Amino acid sequence: MPLSNMPSNAAGSPEAGVRPGPPLWLLAELTYRCPLHCAFCSNPVDYARHGAELGTAQWLDVLAQARALGAVQLGLSGGEPLMRKDLEAIVADARRLGFYINLITSGVGLTDERLGALREAGLDHIQLSFQDSTRELNDFLSSTRTFELKHRVARMIKAHGYPMVMNCVLHRHNLPHVGAIIEMALEMGAEYLELANTQYYGWAWRNRLALMPDAAQLREAEAVVERYRRRIGSRCRILFVVPDYFETRPKKCMNGWGTTFLGVAPDGTALPCHAARMLPGLSLPNVADMPLRDIWFDSEAFNRYRGTAWMKGACQSCDEKEADAGGCRCQAWQLTGDADATDPVCERSDDHDRVRAIVAQGRLAAVLSQGRVQRGREAPLLFRTDANSLRLSKP
Ligand code: FES
Repeated sequence: MPLSNMPSNAAGSPEAGVRPGPPLWLLAELTYRCPLHCAFCSNPVDYARHGAELGTAQWLDVLAQARALGAVQLGLSGGEPLMRKDLEAIVADARRLGFYINLITSGVGLTDERLGALREAGLDHIQLSFQDSTRELNDFLSSTRTFELKHRVARMIKAHGYPMVMNCVLHRHNLPHVGAIIEMALEMGAEYLELANTQYYGWAWRNRLALMPDAAQLREAEAVVERYRRRIGSRCRILFVVPDYFETRPKKCMNGWGTTFLGVAPDGTALPCHAARMLPGLSLPNVADMPLRDIWFDSEAFNRYRGTAWMKGACQSCDEKEADAGGCRCQAWQLTGDADATDPVCERSDDHDRVRAIVAQGRLAAVLSQGRVQRGREAPLLFRTDANSLRLSKP
């Protein structure tokens, strides 16, 4: 869609007159239901209190509206999107609309028959998650027995002609296994491996002291990745994402609020970032109540942190404010209690010490636990279960 056809960034925008582009990336979180219980899940801890899932017709309507707005990339995630029986129908419609469709899955629920049907429906890409290269830790961290199943699914994905795209979230328990994780990916014929260190939102935030690595672990893991990159060349592309807490500048979260990303939660809540539900006073619109076009261009929530006019203090005069778009609002809220504050990951922030303190507390927790039970069991992890979510949903 030509930009001239788009409504202006109207009332409520901090920079009225600046016209945002279309949302290029639609992330449809089809369900919060999930057979896994990962301790680092980024879903909201109180997901159990959110409303009923959108029905098939509502999702198809969201897809059509997003495509008309200009979205081209569709991520299907959750929870576990395979829990939805209408996944094939959603994929087929997305294909008809011309989306590039990526399924983000744990693999649980993917049978040969279902994979064939998804292929037939037009699914472009599958990203399969693993928790570790060992059965013990993979199954412990997800609180399931899924290690062998994931291997079977990986073989199935290859057999159906998809590239093998593997994802493994890293933290202090599996960082020492990075070499073995890469070996596992190579054995599976992975063309792409995403080694993303835990970012601390949702359940991961609750478990931060039990998951936080230390700087030496990260350096070592990065060196291992580098050695493999040199050795294997283009056979498998390895992406290594350092956790924010070890950076000195904030990431350009969501590529800038309201510039690229449009998420829709299972109950239809529209999200400028996947963690936005945590921000106080942010009235998030719902696709059941408002057209997506109005949500994207005119809603208060999507305009709140667009551009740079909302920035305070040091950020306003910072020569890097365009480059990082103010960092992460959810991180600012979690660490300072002020969603408008400078992202404390930035070493220019007066609150940067809070980041250092959490890293130090994580190191202390790791030291204190040494000699006790190994591999993650030393710290009480809070697993993503419906019972825990219901408990945490209580006022
Ligand atoms: Fe919400 Fe970064 S996760 S702005």
